[in-house]
Amino acid sequence: KKYIEEVESFTAQNAAEVEAFRIKFLGKKGILNDLFVEFKSVPNEQKKEFGQVVNELKNAATEKVNSLNESFSGKAETKSELDLTRPGEITELGSRHPINITKNRIIDIFSRIGFSLSDGPEIEDDWHNFTALNLPEHHPARDMQDTFFIEQNPDVVLRTHTSSVQIRYMEQNQPPIRILSPGRVYRNEAISARSHMMFHQIEGLYIDKNVSFADLKQTLSYFTEALFGKSKIRLRPSYFPFTEPSAEVDVYWGLETETDYRMTKGTGWLEIMGCGMVDPNVLKNVNIDPEEYTGFAFGMGIERIALLLYQIGDIRLYTENDIRFLEQFKGEF
Ligand code: PHE
Repeated sequence: KKYIEEVESFTAQNAAEVEAFRIKFLGKKGILNDLFVEFKSVPNEQKKEFGQVVNELKNAATEKVNSLNESFSGKAETKSELDLTRPGEITELGSRHPINITKNRIIDIFSRIGFSLSDGPEIEDDWHNFTALNLPEHHPARDMQDTFFIEQNPDVVLRTHTSSVQIRYMEQNQPPIRILSPGRVYRNEAISARSHMMFHQIEGLYIDKNVSFADLKQTLSYFTEALFGKSKIRLRPSYFPFTEPSAEVDVYWGLETETDYRMTKGTGWLEIMGCGMVDPNVLKNVNIDPEEYTGFAFGMGIERIALLLYQIGDIRLYTENDIRFLEQFKGEF
């Protein structure tokens, strides 16, 4: 009778406790077994009553075990395994591409001094990529740019520079003009650590009354200082058919950093853009009067600038989609 009370009041926290309970009462060496052994030595006149009580205990214990086991299996079991304090699964965040990060920074710097965005097609006709930019047919300067031709006579090309957007914009708009045109350009060149057949440029164009070379130079120093911090730049006299005078801009990246900029061959200067005063012939081609208006233009290579900003040694890394490279730009905008 005492055992029956114990059985009926028994509760368990988990399946293991139920199993211990089962062994205690119903196991081979359990209480019920002992009672059955004892039964043999019970006097005959008490056998009936004793037997009833033992049977009652056996049934109660069996029922208890079954019902408790049921509650710990199936649904109840998985519920108890749900650990709400476990940390969630982490979703990997992607990162912006260094070319995009650099492009956005450049756009931001020029938008502060009034430049707005404009773009044009990557498949371009002869007029916008060459002729209107003062590169008439058979002009030797066309050889400066190794062009990918889509069609010939009349020529359709993959644009070799973003200068084509200057023409498109000036055909549609009158001065004052202050635009920035980022985009892809293509050149038929062997791919190496320092050059690629596809890369990105940002073109700038400023046309207004009395724009001078001093304005160009001041704009460029403002830009390089905003992007690189205090930095040394130099303007080297150069030649472009669409600007006169023309210059190329180098940034000094500092030999003391001993970074492996393979493309600089150890000079410490890296060319990042071409620029100059817009040639009067170009203005005439788009019906802007060069007697009334002057202006400057520049075109910079985004890949080159990103090499400097992030100390990247090889231009091919940008297009290899190597996650170890791309991951390093997490959190940058
Ligand atoms: N279009 C030139 C290039 O691709 C760069 C440039 C742009 C030079 C504008 C002068 C003015 O090399």
